[in-house]
Order: sequence, then C-alpha cells, then structure tokens
Amino acid sequence: MKRIKIKELLLTKPEGQTVTAKGWVRTFRNNQFISLNDGSTINNLQAVVELNSVADETLKRITTGACLSVTGELIPSPAKGQAVELKVKELEILGDSDAEKFPLQPKKHSLEFLREIAHLRSRTNTFSAVMRVRHAMAFAVHKFFNDRGFFYIHTPIITGSDAEGAGAMFRVTTLDPNNPPRDEQGKVNFKEDFFGRETNLTVSGQLEGETYALALGDIYTFGPTFRAENSNTTRHLAEFWMIEPEMAFYDIGDNMQLAQEFLQYLVRYALENCSEDLEFLNKRAQEEEQSKPQDQRSELSLIDRLKFVADNDFQRLSYTEAIDILKNSNPNKKKKFQYLVEEWGVDLQSEHERYLVEKHFKKPVILYNYPKDIKAFYMRQNDDDKTVAAMDVLFPGIGEIIGGSQREERYERLVKRVNELSLPEKELWWYLDLRKFGSAPHSGFGLGFERLILFVTGMTNIRDVIAYPRFPGNAEF
Ligand code: 4AD
Ligand code: MG
Repeated sequence: MKRIKIKELLLTKPEGQTVTAKGWVRTFRNNQFISLNDGSTINNLQAVVELNSVADETLKRITTGACLSVTGELIPSPAKGQAVELKVKELEILGDSDAEKFPLQPKKHSLEFLREIAHLRSRTNTFSAVMRVRHAMAFAVHKFFNDRGFFYIHTPIITGSDAEGAGAMFRVTTLDPNNPPRDEQGKVNFKEDFFGRETNLTVSGQLEGETYALALGDIYTFGPTFRAENSNTTRHLAEFWMIEPEMAFYDIGDNMQLAQEFLQYLVRYALENCSEDLEFLNKRAQEEEQSKPQDQRSELSLIDRLKFVADNDFQRLSYTEAIDILKNSNPNKKKKFQYLVEEWGVDLQSEHERYLVEKHFKKPVILYNYPKDIKAFYMRQNDDDKTVAAMDVLFPGIGEIIGGSQREERYERLVKRVNELSLPEKELWWYLDLRKFGSAPHSGFGLGFERLILFVTGMTNIRDVIAYPRFPGNAEF
C-alpha cells in the first residue's frame, strides 16, 4: 500500500479507510499505543495495537527509535488533542532500535548533549521543528526575490579574493603540506598549486555579485560562506549560509528599505506557514525563559516578538547618534559594559548593539554611516571624509543580523581607498574595471541565514540551527 505522510493523515476525514503510515516510534505505552512520527509534521500519529493482533515477539521490538510500517483503519480518535488515530491491522518493523543503547529517551535532553549526537538529534521535536522552519525560510528567500524580479546568481565557493579584507580565510590547496614546492626565496610556490595561485573558500559572494548587478540589475546570492575567525560565540560559525542581494541604482536609503521589507516578509512567512512548529518552539522558549533570572527574561514571547518585528518600522539611526546614546547610557556611566564607549570611532560590540535594540528603542535598529576605518574598503565614502554609507540591521537577542552598504562606484575614490588599506590593487583589477565601464550607483547587503533562523525559532545558540555546525575545534560528522 502507498504510504501516506502523517501530516496528511492527520488532516484526513477518518471514515474507516485503510491506510499505511511509516515512521519512527516516539513512545509506546501500555503495549498498545504507539506514537509515530515521520518528520512531515511536529505532530505524531497515534497507532493503536488491538489486543492479540500483533505477535508478542513483534510487540517487544516496538521501542523508542524503531522504524515501523503500520497499516490499518483511520478512525476518529476518542483521545483528547487528536482528531484521528490508526487502528493497526498489520505492523512491520523496518528497523529495530535497541532500547538499551538508543541515546534518545522520551525525556528532555540538554542541547549540549544533543550536539554530541548531531546525527540523531534530527529525531527530536526541537530539531525537526527548527529544520522545517529553516526549509520554509530558504524557500521564502527565493520567493521574495523571484517575486520582485531578482535573479539568483551562483557565485564561486573557491576564490582568490578576500572580499571583506578581514583575512580570516580557509586556504584551498592540493600542495603536499610536508613537501611543498618552493621558489628562489624559499617561500611556498603557489604558482605550482592547483589553480596556479593562492586560493581560499569564499568569505562573501558580494564582489562577484556586483558584476552581475551591473548587468542584470537586481541579483542575489544564497550560498555557503566560510570564515576562519576564532570566534567561539553563540552567534558565529566557521561555515554559515549567507544571502547577498545586490541592486543597481539603489542608494543607501533604498538599501535599508529593502532590508526591512525582506526581514519582515520572512518573519511574516514563518508566522503564516510554520504555525505548528512555531507554537511548539514558543512553548519551548518559554520554558527556557523560566530558568533565567527575572531581569534577563525577555518581555515578549517568541511569537509576540515575531509579530512585533513584522508589524513595526525599524528605527533608523546614524552611528554618530548611536555613540551619543551609548556614551550617556546607564550601563556606560556605571561601567557595566565590558567595553566602555568613550569616543567616536570605536567599533560597536554586541553588548552595545543589544542595548540600543533591547533597552533603548525596544525595536530593530538600522545603524548607518559608520566610521570608514571600521568598515570594508568597498563602501561608499561620504562627503564628511570620515564615514561611509554602511548599514547594519540589529535585532533583539541577536545583535547584527544584516550588514551592507552603498558601494563606492567612483573609480578614483575606490583605488585610493584600496591603496590606503594596502589591498592588492592588481588582484582587484576586475572589480575596479566595473567602475571604469558603465559604473552606476549600487548597493547591497548580506543576511546571515543562521542568525535569521535563531531569531525566528527562538533558539539561542547558532550551533543548534544548522544540521552540522562547524566551529573552532569541531568538524565531526
Ligand atoms: O557583515 P558581513 O561580514 O558582510 C558581508 O560579508 C558583506 N559582503 C555583505 C554584503 O554587503 N553583501 O556579514 C553579513 C552577515 C552578518 O550581518 C551576519 O548576520 C552574518 O553575515 N555573519 C555570520 N553568521 C554566522 N557566523 C559568522 N561567522 C558570521 N559572520 C557574518
Ligand atoms: Mg558586519
């Protein structure tokens, strides 16, 4: 018989029709009630084993984690909280699961423990819910841009450029580390490497993306991104996914507007299409909150937070205004910040970003016009000669979720900046060419996909919103 997904069965009118479901046992009670989950939904199907209808030998093999196929009648359920149940006529064990050894028991496990068994945590309610939401968000990203006439460009993963100029890159090489070819000065000769030059995994698809924006108009990339920064935080991964739209003829204001509409669209999409998973995650987050001290609990529940972001304009604020607010803030005066804000020009720490968002404005903030010295070389220089047309979107509980800017489209200005920062002008020839041939004002930004998923699911560690997190000291699985 054709298997029907549990999500569909639970919505089917029960008329005693014979159906087949397949899935993994969550619990088995009283030698009679099987809770079966197949991942199609957070909800389980109750399969009821009639007395004597299944051999004792088989009954013993129905354990948490085992994989089953059940066939029987779909009938209205007398139990509370479910409309239908399946009256089992045939039951086949597809895969046994030794109850003594299966690490997931029908109880709450810590997220730390689950990270060590990342290949099985997918079987828990929490991780399956997070992954279904993650899927929906990826789909919504494409839908948002497609509906607005943006083209999806696949920028390279192996590249010779360091777009952010931050230098935190993973090298790609086929040279033998024990015996690399050397040049006359004794340095490793990368001319003999696979690509005839030094290469690394991309830190951003932006620079290549720009070359297509100045041809197709509006484009976006959505791909894996790699950073070898040694940031052991709940917000950083060494391998993460980034969405980078790039738009010809957009100035910084248009860019901020698009960023807001994009984030609000995604949040609204989740509210409309992931309601069951979000309700589960909402409850889960509420329980987590209970274990925190009163003053660290958030005022809004997960779902209220999502609704709030979807319905309210983000606060726009220049870096200079932000510094004034931070300088005069209570935690700064009382020296509660780990990094005190004393002068214009300092980079903002996540504690400062979160103060602005969570305490001062109590809504998402878009900060713009940052000092040029703390931002990347490609950002458009403002007339004050001190700031660039950068913008960061800051979210409650997350800090920076989006970083972007208007790009420097003036050739001379850009070359000057490249040289001031001692960047390799020669290697950037193709990027500089864009400013020589039909240059145009343009802008773009990058959304960290996992930071978005953190926000939407209410999870608190970025390692729990990607299937197999990569971070310093860990590349298991
Ligand atoms: O601010 P970033 O470094 O900007 C860029 O890479 C630009 N090229 C984007 C652009 O203008 N096209 O990174 C953008 C976003 C951050 O705001 C953050 O959400 C995320 O990427 N991000 C990370 N997410 C997880 N782990 C990391 N190590 C991240 N680094 C940045
Ligand atoms: Mg940034």
